Amino acid sequence: MQNLTLSSEALPKHIAVIMDGNGRWAKEKGKPRVFGHKNGVKAVRRTISTATQLGIQAITLFAFSSENWRRPQDEVGVLMELFFSVLTTEVKKLHKNNLRLRVIGDLSRFSKRLQDKIASAESLTENNTGMVVNIAANYGGKWDITNAVRQLAEDISGGILSSSDITEQSIAQYLTMSDLPDVDLLIRTSGECRISNFMLWQLAYAELYFTPTYWPDFNEDSLVDAITWYVNRERRFGCTGEQIKALLDK
Ligand code: IPE
Ligand code: IPE
Ligand code: MG
Repeated sequence: MQNLTLSSEALPKHIAVIMDGNGRWAKEKGKPRVFGHKNGVKAVRRTISTATQLGIQAITLFAFSSENWRRPQDEVGVLMELFFSVLTTEVKKLHKNNLRLRVIGDLSRFSKRLQDKIASAESLTENNTGMVVNIAANYGGKWDITNAVRQLAEDISGGILSSSDITEQSIAQYLTMSDLPDVDLLIRTSGECRISNFMLWQLAYAELYFTPTYWPDFNEDSLVDAITWYVNRERRFGCTGEQIKALLDK
């Protein structure tokens, strides 16, 4: 049988990931939760690298939800420090690989030091033309929509828009990531099957992929499996993991 070469057109353009299970992964190993978060960073690196090789247009990683402030203060502190140090070490690599980094969410609650670090990482990579890497931090889907509605209301009261201009398209323009295609594939690790207030609007038509794998164990094969599943759902022509991997080797 002829080996069908898969077109990269069939791949998802925008992948979103709820990176879950760091704590349980560490607990199973008898380690503190922070050990799981540190190993989760390695999975982030692997995922970005594989997605880049596949030519994915954008990836959005849920790193910290607007609800995660409810965690014990110690854990929140560790996560903030980890975010700061990862931004410091990884941004140069992202830049070298022509990737564009953006941090999506209500940044006002972060320390000034972290906000400055985020701003400099974003400005260093803003003219890059490769994959867009969005890190969702203090992000919530309800926050995103609320924020959009507030700005829309301000533009109406300022006379820039009238209420009859409110359409799905105009609301979408006020949301974060409005310049990117909507999410095609959402991946959530750790076996939980919920959205946890991640992108609500942008996920309206996404294929939802849930895997029991804990985030720190998520590797190149895990991403290939998720994308293979997606391609088969969307295009229904029975593509194999090998065909996705063939795109990686190009
Ligand atoms: C995901 O792992 C990372 C963050 C939410 C920051 P968790 O910390 O939620 O790990 P579990 O779900 O407790 O195992
Ligand atoms: C969702 O994970 C947020 C992130 C992955 C950052 P959680 O583990 O915090 O989600 P819930 O609260 O269990 O739904
Ligand atoms: Mg969790």
